[in-house]
Amino acid sequence: MGKENIWLLVIWIYFIKTCASFSTTTEPTLFSNTTDWILDYTDIESKFSLRTAEIPDDDLCYIVPGQPETISQCEFNLQTQTFVIIHGWTVTGMFESWVPKLVSALYEREPSANVIVVDWLTRAQQHYPISAAYTKLVGRDVAKFVHWLETEVQYPWERIHLLGYSLGAHVAGIAGLLTDHKINRITGLDPAGPSFEYADEQSTLSPDDANFVDVLHTNTRGSPDRSIGIQRPVGHVDIYPNGGTFQPGCEFQSTMKMIATTGLQNMDQILKCSHERSIHLFIDSLVNEQHQSLAYRCSSKEAFNKGLCLSCRKNRCNKLGYEVNRIRSRRSSKMYLKTREMMPYKVFHYQLKVHFFSKDKLTFTEQPMKVSLYGTNGEKEDISLTLPQLTTNTTISFLLTTDVDIGELLMVKMRWEKDSYFSLSDWWGNNKFNIRKLRVKAGETQAKLIFSAKEGEFEYLVRGGNEAVFVKSKEDQSSRKEERLHKRKMNGSLFKQNTK
Ligand SMILES: *[C@@H]1O[C@H](CO)[C@@H](O)[C@H](O)[C@H]1NC(C)=O
Ligand SMILES: *[C@@H]1O[C@H](CO)[C@@H](O)[C@H](O)[C@H]1NC(C)=O
Ligand SMILES: *[C@@H]1O[C@H](CO)[C@@H](O)[C@H](O)[C@H]1NC(C)=O
Repeated sequence: MGKENIWLLVIWIYFIKTCASFSTTTEPTLFSNTTDWILDYTDIESKFSLRTAEIPDDDLCYIVPGQPETISQCEFNLQTQTFVIIHGWTVTGMFESWVPKLVSALYEREPSANVIVVDWLTRAQQHYPISAAYTKLVGRDVAKFVHWLETEVQYPWERIHLLGYSLGAHVAGIAGLLTDHKINRITGLDPAGPSFEYADEQSTLSPDDANFVDVLHTNTRGSPDRSIGIQRPVGHVDIYPNGGTFQPGCEFQSTMKMIATTGLQNMDQILKCSHERSIHLFIDSLVNEQHQSLAYRCSSKEAFNKGLCLSCRKNRCNKLGYEVNRIRSRRSSKMYLKTREMMPYKVFHYQLKVHFFSKDKLTFTEQPMKVSLYGTNGEKEDISLTLPQLTTNTTISFLLTTDVDIGELLMVKMRWEKDSYFSLSDWWGNNKFNIRKLRVKAGETQAKLIFSAKEGEFEYLVRGGNEAVFVKSKEDQSSRKEERLHKRKMNGSLFKQNTK
């Protein structure tokens, strides 16, 4: 996350310009207690295209509220669920390339479903604050559409799932609010921040807008008024992959490579790499079922990065994306996970706890380490990390991730690298700690393991020296029980299943 990314952000902000709050411009009709407006289809500007699995990238048939014959013309399937995709602000005035990808992924997972794309491109290509204000009118259009389906053909509201990206997430929220909360699920994909961070719940996506609201936050860098994605939680489950600020693979070097290979026509996509990652994470959850990512509730991303939050007890962990467990805690909580930089995004999370013994009082900061994990299925060697502080007779906890499923962990090796600059203390000082054991907690299996020195009572961790080797020692009973319980839970038996 260098300076290079800042200029990407600057370009983005240049596009967005600064935006005024519009929460005072609420139209009187919008929240009035009459319901007549919802039956007036004459002023609907948004279009509702039922796309197909065969041609996911083109609008061939529109379902028009007030024209029941379009339901059968488009071959809308009344017996299955419906996904409604709502795009966000657009520079080009055209559908972005993720739209057909999401359509295809939804059909791949639910072949009989109806996947509808809302086209509000005309209103979405205005100056950003104007498009942001239009979310109210578009939300109204979507509310009318949904209400019409529910009344005209008695389509059950339990089958409606809205997916909104960026400004589209707030459109979905307004639609949910205006239909009297008769929408089963809303998924917010990095809901837009500018104009919304400080707006009231009626103008933004909020937990009250549907039976269940799940949100992915992937681009929330900078001060709240500058953040592309909204920073505060707005759903029942709010997941912040990689801290939610910025996503791996979206660095300047990678984006330059992308420009070199795909040219400038995807410039808007490149600028929005982290923002759009929310969509690709959701697509991943649809098409890579066997690589289901887990997120963990945590008080802060700092605590998460120390490995302190890998518990699944009392619904503290959840599945990211389509298969999310519908946990509706009273107050929304933030959940975190790490991901890879490409699909499938899943990584395995481990907490390592180490106590550093020494006879001497030693303190080091920012120390580079290499850790290798060996398991029943495979291994991952030389995972680099920096330990912020090493001090005699203290315990530290840190997070380690690997994209390899190593199976059950059997052995851990740890090496203390020399830091890059020449340090006198390496010549004559004592840079050695004794370690008796490592405590490891695996997030994905909930296993708790203890590793001890391979030989003797201690292993020695020496700066620039050999690696310390730890092997599995014993496993406490409670851990086994927790593991089994977790396995059952993740299989769905203890959770309410998604209503389909
Ligand atoms: C709306 O509600 C107010 C008070 O709650 C009531 O006085 C008014 O008659 C209502 N209007 C309509 C059109 O129902
Ligand atoms: C650290 O703890 C060990 C064992 O408890 C003790 O022998 C040693 O003196 C302690 N080191 C310091 C610097 O206090
Ligand atoms: C998950 O549940 C299915 C049936 O509900 C069962 O057949 C399967 O063995 C379970 N898997 C695990 C890992 O418990």
